[in-house]
Amino acid sequence: MPKRYDYTMKDVQEVYDGPGGLLWEAVMSEQIHSGAERTTEELAQALGLQKGQHVLDVCSALGAPARHIAKKYGVKVTGLDMTRTMNEKAVQRTKEAGLDSLIDFVEGNGMDMPFKANTFDVVWGQEAWCYVTNKDQLAAECFRVLKPGGKLGFTDWVITGKVEEDLLAKLYESMSFPYMETYEGWQGVLKKAGFKVLDAQDQTEDYAKCFDEYKPMVEEKLKPTIIKNFGEDLFGFATGLVNMWRDAAHAHKVGRGFYIAEKPK
Ligand SMILES: C[S@@+](CC[C@H](N)C(=O)[O-])C[C@H]1O[C@@H](n2cnc3c(N)ncnc32)[C@H](O)[C@@H]1O
Repeated sequence: MPKRYDYTMKDVQEVYDGPGGLLWEAVMSEQIHSGAERTTEELAQALGLQKGQHVLDVCSALGAPARHIAKKYGVKVTGLDMTRTMNEKAVQRTKEAGLDSLIDFVEGNGMDMPFKANTFDVVWGQEAWCYVTNKDQLAAECFRVLKPGGKLGFTDWVITGKVEEDLLAKLYESMSFPYMETYEGWQGVLKKAGFKVLDAQDQTEDYAKCFDEYKPMVEEKLKPTIIKNFGEDLFGFATGLVNMWRDAAHAHKVGRGFYIAEKPK
């Protein structure tokens, strides 16, 4: 089992309530995950989303993936996120996009979801579950709220190789991650929760390429904005963070895991 660090839900909320949320949006786009719309589309197609299905997006942040899939596939989406600022922005942007009849947002914890059992056709997540302090509890909740025969599809930042303990501690500290699952470890967590794993992909190479794009974006394009809005210290922190994760991804130590699983009928 991966070693856990003492970052709490409150630490994560402080990141997304503060400059962290704004910074990640500036770097990654409103879809706060590597690959933006491209990887949202990849997940949507792997899940075979159908009009009328009810999708739960766990850790929905600004709600951009929810808007993308509601608009393109005609699915209903409920976004669940524990950070109020993120939820408020998600609600406002969804209203502005005229999609509020298809999408709602609920403030809550992925490890203790405020939904009844067997509610959703699909449970969805993108590059956020690395923040969740107990992945077994999260997977058990995903299983509980899915209808029998329903599908779970998500991507996450995972350990994909051998990482030195001191580097791992620095990577976690830079992001306030309590721990990341390993690429294989997530499959074990899913099976333990009762899921049948249908597909798993180690997407570290693509993830590393995304960080190649973030490097000049942070070091050059966004430099004046970051310094003006957040100061030199945050600029130094952001460039250090991007370079550290980029190097670790190119060394195939960390990356993106992609998983599709099913709750048996
Ligand atoms: C990287 S953002 C998610 C990005 C989003 N999935 C997307 O693709 O646009 C991380 C989000 O996870 C949320 N989060 C972290 N732990 C959570 C938990 N235990 N329950 C609910 N939300 C959580 C944070 O509040 C934050 O908004």
